Amino acid sequence: PRTLRVALAGCGTVGGELVRLLHQGAGEIRARHGVRVRLVRVLVAHAGRPRPSELDPALLTTDLDAFLAEDADVVVEAIGGLDPALRIARTTLGRGRRLVTANKALIAAHGPELAELARRHRTRIDFESAVAGGIPVIRALRDSLGLTGIARIRGVLNGTTNFILTRLDEGWRYADALADAQARGFAEANPARDLSGEDAADKLRILGWLAFGIRPDALVLRRRGIDPDPERLAADARLLGGAPRLVAEAVQTEAGVVAAVEPVIVPSAGALGRTRGEENVVVIESRANGGVALSGPGAGGSPTASSLLADLVRGAGRLPRPAPVAPLSVADTREHRW
Ligand code: HSE
Repeated sequence: PRTLRVALAGCGTVGGELVRLLHQGAGEIRARHGVRVRLVRVLVAHAGRPRPSELDPALLTTDLDAFLAEDADVVVEAIGGLDPALRIARTTLGRGRRLVTANKALIAAHGPELAELARRHRTRIDFESAVAGGIPVIRALRDSLGLTGIARIRGVLNGTTNFILTRLDEGWRYADALADAQARGFAEANPARDLSGEDAADKLRILGWLAFGIRPDALVLRRRGIDPDPERLAADARLLGGAPRLVAEAVQTEAGVVAAVEPVIVPSAGALGRTRGEENVVVIESRANGGVALSGPGAGGSPTASSLLADLVRGAGRLPRPAPVAPLSVADTREHRW
């Protein structure tokens, strides 16, 4: 099989999980996609931190120039923030190499510029993992629904605040719920970006770009987070008999696209109310296709890394070779035909 040389920037919650997925899934990736993925360099900010046991320590570097000098086929960026992520992105695409990034701040601020750079250098930029963790919403907009006329996008795009709001609903204290979200690897390095709605706003800017063709940095967006008093929000929701959610919404109106991230008390039984814990949901209303709801794990190392992996192998670009037909296995015991 062809060897795909991959350089990885960032080896924290998400990058570290990608290393594990690549290691565990090596055989399957080779069989299914016809490529052997080889990590050639891993850039980290701190040399001494614990890393996955699957990672060869000889690949680690803290030297950005040494990392950029590596001529990999694909660079995966999972560090977040703009510096040095923007430099890594520009260098990679400018050299005609593929970039796969989980960085919503980067795409929200520079997505169109980087997409143009990729086009000029006949390569690609993929960022499925930047929005809604493990839910393939970028593909849905970029390759499918977004091509046919979107009327509205509405959803829950931040796992940390949804996790906190769900826990508060169960009677937890705010400080404990936040600490738990951090311990589980859902929150940003600076959780203020989750609580203030900035993280959800970055993601909504990206979806607005793909759905409505508006530059993400030019989308006019009203933003309120769940801070400063999420306990009060949860208590008010309880009084009203609904579920508190940090709702992100962008709607096409005659006056243009109107976008907002703000706390809303929604019906508990609706698509947003039923989205619990770190789950995300995106409801995409298209003019000709009605409403399509995508929901699933929205934050955390494993789902986010699985989207990175999907972007990484998608360049292989082929339909899977079907495996020989296996005999039917034991019937699923949770469902019953009648
Ligand atoms: N901090 C983000 C969240 C991670 O809680 O949704 C996923 O982008």
